[in-house]
Amino acid sequence: MQERLQKFLARTGIASRRGAEKLITDGKIRVNGVVVTELGTKVDPVKDKVSYNGKMLKVEAKKVYYMLNKPKGVVSASEDKNQPTVVDLVPQNLWRKGLFPAGRLDKDTTGFVLITDDGEFAHDILSPKKHIPKTYHALVDGAITERMEADFAKGVRIGEDFTLPASLKKLSSTPQGDWGEVILKEGLYHQIKRMFGVYGLKVLELKRVQMGKLPLDPQLPEGKCRELSEEELRLVASREEE
Ligand code: URA
Repeated sequence: MQERLQKFLARTGIASRRGAEKLITDGKIRVNGVVVTELGTKVDPVKDKVSYNGKMLKVEAKKVYYMLNKPKGVVSASEDKNQPTVVDLVPQNLWRKGLFPAGRLDKDTTGFVLITDDGEFAHDILSPKKHIPKTYHALVDGAITERMEADFAKGVRIGEDFTLPASLKKLSSTPQGDWGEVILKEGLYHQIKRMFGVYGLKVLELKRVQMGKLPLDPQLPEGKCRELSEEELRLVASREEE
């Protein structure tokens, strides 16, 4: 489908529609190697090669952001030869090249996984420097004590690592053990399991229930995935203080 050159230029983000017109009339734009100064010129965005300052221009595809409710038994990767991945759960109509999970949950952990093709956004929400909290509910095979809550708040030594301050709050007791809410601002390998392991406790169930200020949609069944709205995306990237 052909479109007007100035409209194509504006869509690439190099200038506004008005600014693009000026670039054309100033003779700064080439189409298939030839300078074009005519404002009515039409181009085919797929076939024609449009360049500015020797650089080829293309319209970036809009990035996508999905919330997945991860079931157990699925690995947090884009591809795996032997096991189903979280990206395999993305339905055909939402699938596109370059999708990956922004952050990993263990194979037996369930809940909120954000799947995107936006590397910059993923880096931002995962970086410990950004302090985006990730909230989990964990069932452990024993008691969650006030001492543990106080230790988590200071940070816990797990092997070689010392965690950032985290939050632990006991939620309820069951015959199997206690449920607790854990809030982390980083994602060290098996972090929650290792933090409870310091106290001799085993994590029996682990579910991520929130990223930033966005809770997992309670209407979203396990194994299903849906697009996030712009407002929801903003909530993922926001911290408690804001
Ligand atoms: N901590 C863990 O131990 N496992 C996860 O999947 C997430 C956090």
